[in-house]
Amino acid sequence: MTETGWSKLEALPRPTLEELFADPRRLDALCTTLDLPGGAIRFDWSKTHLDNAVLEVLSSISAEMDVEGRREALFTGEIVNPTERRAAEHTAQRGIGNGESVERAMANHERMRGLAEAILSGDFGEVKSLIHIGIGGSALGPALAVDALTRDGARVDVHVVSNIDGCALEQAFAACDPATTMLAVASKTFTTIETMTNAESALDWMRQAGVGDPYGRVVALTASPDKAIEWGVDETRILPFSETVGGRYSLWSSIGFPVALALGWEDFSAFLEGAAAMDRHFYEAALYENVVFRAAFGDLYYAQARRCETRAVFAYDERLALLPDYLQQLEMESNGKRVTADGKPLGRPSAPVTWGGVGTDAQHAVFQLLHQGTHLIPVDFLAVKAAGDVLDPAHHRILLSNCFAQGAALMSGKADDGDAARAYPGDRPSATMLCDDLNPATLGSLIAFHEHRTFVNGAMLGINSFDQFGVELGKAIAKRIESDGAEGFDASTAALLDAAGIG
Ligand code: F6P
Repeated sequence: MTETGWSKLEALPRPTLEELFADPRRLDALCTTLDLPGGAIRFDWSKTHLDNAVLEVLSSISAEMDVEGRREALFTGEIVNPTERRAAEHTAQRGIGNGESVERAMANHERMRGLAEAILSGDFGEVKSLIHIGIGGSALGPALAVDALTRDGARVDVHVVSNIDGCALEQAFAACDPATTMLAVASKTFTTIETMTNAESALDWMRQAGVGDPYGRVVALTASPDKAIEWGVDETRILPFSETVGGRYSLWSSIGFPVALALGWEDFSAFLEGAAAMDRHFYEAALYENVVFRAAFGDLYYAQARRCETRAVFAYDERLALLPDYLQQLEMESNGKRVTADGKPLGRPSAPVTWGGVGTDAQHAVFQLLHQGTHLIPVDFLAVKAAGDVLDPAHHRILLSNCFAQGAALMSGKADDGDAARAYPGDRPSATMLCDDLNPATLGSLIAFHEHRTFVNGAMLGINSFDQFGVELGKAIAKRIESDGAEGFDASTAALLDAAGIG
């Protein structure tokens, strides 16, 4: 039945963007401004090929896949991750969801607030820096939020270290004084090899610098408190969160501790409230007015009907430079799956590859392909009305005009006046999100918007967006190399191990 829906979508007429804009109501119909706690965000999907026919087919697929039912299940704490038999309760961290889970999240937040305030008020002596050690979902969110929100200074300098490559940790060491540094060890499982190895080395660094009780400087952020205790962290410095919060959805839990420490609790609460406002919009707004559904429908139209294999995100704001990295994990780890939640072959494209960068830099590097290449790549632009800098306003004005110029150029193109190399085909889609301001609440709303967009994409395809078994095999093989060396490997891998001297 649903296959009929997808086939219908593929068979729909394909008017060009120019043709679609012949309808004077188009902008109003596909551009929505939401008043959110951090200021308004304008979601302009008018330069995509969404039209009534496309939206109707996608709405009927949504009805068939019971996406609104899945949404209800998400918000009420039912099992939406069947392979791991778990709920996905990131919204409870922002106060929206099943009563018991919200209460537990609030209690965990109180504990986190207590520790953050104790550190900020000097109970741990002078603390100038925090080295936050984690990887994947235990690092990308804190790195993004700290980078985006502390450009004007932070109450504690946060250095996020994820890679096992010692160069990453050494860089953090070089920027910190061990006597005034604390460590946050962030790991949902508290078993991840990169994180545990980096944490051991950070303790050694402190010991070698003469810090008396290095473990006394560690805060553990985890859903496995027993493992953290076993590793040596005192129970009073363990900030737990629930198993039902997925790694890539965990920034709102104690994994956000470095954000709370860098910004202070008030701003962290505003960050949560910004996300909660987006939760409410996603939960309550009718399908046609729901910016989350609209964005996901755009994603699905391009991935499924036009077979676009990638989608690109460009933040025209230096403060959001890490957003594409964050979205890569969110979208690709959530929906990069070849089977449905009940284990059947998906039989169609899963999530596209998410990639991107920062404007205007990207214009001088990759936009050639967007404008004149042979791939059709739907683009998201993100921009902020209020400048983040205090330099000559020309900087921000030129930044924004470039952002909007790119969307216009992709759409309108330029005719071939006898020189094919200088012609632009146009009719290339983009969506633009314009925020009034970038502050903790706006960032919270933006991230929550993308979380729910990812959820709707998965639910429409019948994918379980909350497991990630695809990361396991490589980890197991790396472990095997650690224990057995090159034994039993194919000729190429064995020779590589040998050539690197680790065979
Ligand atoms: O390997 C993937 C992954 O499991 C991610 O999903 C997760 O965010 C990351 O590793 C880190 O896991 P943990 O928080 O348990 O250390």
